[in-house]
Amino acid sequence: VSGRLGSTGLGSYDGGQGNWIGGKVGRVPAGIGRRRMRIVVTGGAGFVGSHLVDRLVARGDDVIVIDNFFTGRKQNVAHHFGNPRFELIRHDVVEPILLEVDQIYHLACPASPTNVMGTLNMLGLAKRIGARFLLTSTSEVYGDPLEHPQKETYWGHVNPIGVRSCYDEGKRTAETLTMDYHRGADVEVRIARIFNTYGPRMCLDDGRVVSNFVAQAIRKEPMTVYGDGKQTRSFQYVSDLVDGLMALMEGEHIGPFNLGNPGEFTMLELAEVVKETIDPTATIAFKDNTADDPHKRKPDISKAKELLNWQPKVSLRDGLPLMVADFRNRILNQDEGKAH
Ligand SMILES: NC(=O)c1ccc[n+]([C@@H]2O[C@H](COP(=O)([O-])OP(=O)(O)OC[C@H]3O[C@@H](n4cnc5c(N)ncnc54)[C@H](O)[C@@H]3O)[C@@H](O)[C@H]2O)c1
Repeated sequence: VSGRLGSTGLGSYDGGQGNWIGGKVGRVPAGIGRRRMRIVVTGGAGFVGSHLVDRLVARGDDVIVIDNFFTGRKQNVAHHFGNPRFELIRHDVVEPILLEVDQIYHLACPASPTNVMGTLNMLGLAKRIGARFLLTSTSEVYGDPLEHPQKETYWGHVNPIGVRSCYDEGKRTAETLTMDYHRGADVEVRIARIFNTYGPRMCLDDGRVVSNFVAQAIRKEPMTVYGDGKQTRSFQYVSDLVDGLMALMEGEHIGPFNLGNPGEFTMLELAEVVKETIDPTATIAFKDNTADDPHKRKPDISKAKELLNWQPKVSLRDGLPLMVADFRNRILNQDEGKAH
C-alpha cells in the first residue's frame, strides 16, 4: 500500500518516507532521525497544554489542539496560527471526535463529571487508531493523605461526597478507565499525577494559591490565607512539568508517575516569597479554611527520577519572577479593559 494517502485506522501513511506503517503507531522512540509524529493535545489552549504545544511544535511534530475554551484562551496558542504544522479545533471532548494521530496528550479537564466522558472518548479514539494515550491525572487522587510524602503506591484518602470530590474522584475514575483500556484493549497508556504547577499563562482567578497570591499582590490587595497558613504545598514550574510529560510519553513505563517539585512550602512561606518578589509591603488576610483542604502535599519523585531520568530544575525563587511578568501584563490589560 506504499504511496497511499490517508489511513484506514489500522496504520498510518508516513508522507515523508512514502511508507505505509502498519499496525500500532506511536511506538517510534524520539531521537535523531525519528519520524515526525501527529499529536493531539486536548486542553492545548490551557495553561500547561499551551506550553506543551510550544515544545512539540518546536520539536517539529504536527500538533492538533482540541479545546472548547472553557478555561483556556486562544491567545495562549495564537503565536502558532499560520504554522501549517499547527491546527486548533474548537471541540468539547464530551463529544467523540475522529482523528488520525500517533499520540494523545489528554489534558482537557473541567472539574466536573464531564471529566470522565472526555477521558472515555479519548481512550476510545486511542483504541480505534492505535495511538499512545497520556492522562494528566493529579495529586488530588491522594486526597488528604495519611502518608507523607506521597508515593505512587499510596491509594489515597479521599472523601467521596465532599465539595472537591467531583474533581478528585473524576481523576481517579479516569485513571481506572485508562488502566482498563490498557488491560482490556491493549491501548498503550501513560499516567502522570501532576502536583501544583505554576507559570506564565496560568488562569488569573482560578483559585489556585500561587495565582491568587501573585494576582492579589500585584493588585495591592491582601493575600488570602485560608486557615492558619501552616498547610504545605509543593510548587513546580511549568517547563519542568512539560519535560516530565514528554519523557513519560516517549518512555517505556506506564506509571503512574508523580510529577512535581518536592520542595515543600507552608502557605505563609509562599506568601513571604511572593512578597519578596512583588511587593515588600504586601499584607495577608486570614480566612476560614475550605472543606477537605489537604494539610500536606509533597511528591515522592524517586520513581520518575529512576525510570524517566527526570527531576525538576527550576526553584520557586527562580520560577516565580517569570510568572509575575506575565501576570503583571495581563492584570494591567484586564483592569484597563474593565475601566473602558
Ligand atoms: N496546573 C496544575 O497545577 C495541575 C495540577 C494537577 C493536575 N493538572 C491537570 O493538568 C491538566 C491541565 O491543567 P491546566 O492547569 O493547564 O488547566 P487549564 O484549565 O488551564 O487547562 C485545561 C484546558 O482544557 C480545556 N477544556 C476543559 N474542558 C474541556 C472540554 N470539555 N473539551 C475541550 N477542552 C476542554 C480548557 O478550555 C483549558 O484550555 C488538567 O487535566 C489538570 O487536571 C494540573
